[in-house]
Amino acid sequence: ANPSLLILPGDGIGPEVMTEVRKVIDWYGTQGFPFDVSEDLVGGAAYDAHGAPLSDETMEKAQQVDAVLLGAVGGPKYDTLDFSVKPERGLLRLRKEMDLFANLRPAQCFDALADFSSLKKDVVAGLDIMIVRELTSGVYFGEPRGIITENNERVGINTQRYTESEIDRVARSAFDLAMKRGKKLCSMEKANVMESGILWRDVVTEVGKDYPEVELTHMYADAGAMQLTRWPKQFDVIVTDNLFGDLLSDLAAMLTGSLGMLPSASLGLPMANGRPKAMYEPVHGSAPDIAGQGKANPIACILSFAMALRYSFDLGTQADQLEAAVEKVLADGLRTADLLGEEGRDPVSTSEMGDAIVAALEDS
Ligand code: NAI
Ligand code: MG
Repeated sequence: ANPSLLILPGDGIGPEVMTEVRKVIDWYGTQGFPFDVSEDLVGGAAYDAHGAPLSDETMEKAQQVDAVLLGAVGGPKYDTLDFSVKPERGLLRLRKEMDLFANLRPAQCFDALADFSSLKKDVVAGLDIMIVRELTSGVYFGEPRGIITENNERVGINTQRYTESEIDRVARSAFDLAMKRGKKLCSMEKANVMESGILWRDVVTEVGKDYPEVELTHMYADAGAMQLTRWPKQFDVIVTDNLFGDLLSDLAAMLTGSLGMLPSASLGLPMANGRPKAMYEPVHGSAPDIAGQGKANPIACILSFAMALRYSFDLGTQADQLEAAVEKVLADGLRTADLLGEEGRDPVSTSEMGDAIVAALEDS
């Protein structure tokens, strides 16, 4: 059977950028890499149709396919809805029920956009690193938590808590990724001051024995932040906890430029066919300020599909080819409005960018 893909375009610019991804998926179909694609509603669009941001049928489908590709959810129209049916709840339900505990955020710099970075060009040119953030545990979830009163003042409490098995599974995801990339993994925690950090280092080291080909290093997360801005090309894959990963992945993302360029993936445990449960999505939201105007940059969503090729379907060569096509159109000077900054050039539209990427694939 062909690999299966569930597409959830969502709201705002979600459907606009997903139209361009469909062109890319169709092109791979003509090259001997067909996918069984189904499409469904999520977020505000699902609420409008069924009164819920994700139907049980869609949830069921998401559990069965090889990968989910999501656009974006939300918009001003839904801001006043009750929390239980807000568009974001659709996304949260997918993440929770699929148990997507490993959040992958690449920081990849296309040479043509190196000037966009706030860092020096030689520091970022050619950068290609991946941060794996544990997403379902740690201090954002640990108990006890709350605001209590003690000695006549209020005390805010959160608890950093990780079990061995939670560390073990995210470490395995990160080592598996490292095997598909540069075979280098750096684990970041604060084992100098945190018990959870000591356990983290211990468990990651133990898991590393199953991956003798991967070169494992450890770094304190604060030093990691420094190294990420000083010389980010020293890294390949970084694995870290929920809190540090939140900060480090935002930091790393901005090494390379626009929100319209950033893909992501969230992975869970391997399914019966050996592929991880997976959802791929751009980092950006539904961008209501530009929705419906043909201005959205489809590259973040197209690169999310490239991640699916590499990490769900073992089509690394095809993923390289797609990333090279993106690099080519950028080198040719094509820019959607978000990539133009102060320059006085004319932007291309969402569909012109998608068409140009397919044309570059055709030429490759
Ligand atoms: P946003 O990411 O939608 O937009 C922030 C800014 O970046 C806007 O000026 C937008 O025009 C621009 N932008 C974003 N993606 C772009 C693209 N592909 N091409 C060109 N420009 C792009 O974040 P914002 O404005 O905070 O949120 C808007 C809505 O999206 C809200 O309802 C929010 O809840 C939702 N949201 C959804 C997310 C998701 O579905 N994963 C993530 C973040 C926000
Ligand atoms: Mg964040």
